[in-house]
Amino acid sequence: MAIDAEEPDRRDFLTLAAGAWVAVGGAVTLWPFIQQMNPDAGAQALASIEVDITPVKEGQAITVLWRGKPVFIRHRTPDEISSAKAVKLDELRDEFARNDALPADAKATDENRTKSGHENWIIMVGICTHLGCIPKGQALGDAHGDYNGWFCPCHGSHYDTAGRIRKGPAPRNLEVPVYDFVSDTKLKIG
Ligand code: FES
Repeated sequence: MAIDAEEPDRRDFLTLAAGAWVAVGGAVTLWPFIQQMNPDAGAQALASIEVDITPVKEGQAITVLWRGKPVFIRHRTPDEISSAKAVKLDELRDEFARNDALPADAKATDENRTKSGHENWIIMVGICTHLGCIPKGQALGDAHGDYNGWFCPCHGSHYDTAGRIRKGPAPRNLEVPVYDFVSDTKLKIG
């Protein structure tokens, strides 16, 4: 049963890899495919990528590959931001931010899941914290789940607009990688 559940997401991952080829430019484009075929420690060490986010309009999202993982980059709408900020910590299943740039005990506020001054962007590793499927919610027409964020169809996990687990079997919020804004339109991940 588990194999059946994973197969669609394996295909999704390959689709995303192809999408990332289009979505990001320069040196970034070659290395994810090399990484997928031949992962090693040396390649891991080089895994810092820059992404031009100029084309990503409000309400849109792209997925790039970083260290062989899909990374979701979403340009949030004002409604998505305000609904994320309105959530009280005691409503959350996972109280921790899971932000690699913050201490492990940082709380899962929207502020701790985004960057100050850039709250309209959410950047997360797009791997469900249950059993590793890739949640839906990036592509046009995708299901977004009950909390208008991301939905993992493998076993029904629902994430909100800050990528926090709200319903279903996943135990943790989606991981926020270390990233920075090189400029208003360029993002460095890793
Ligand atoms: Fe099981 Fe996502 S992998 S809900």
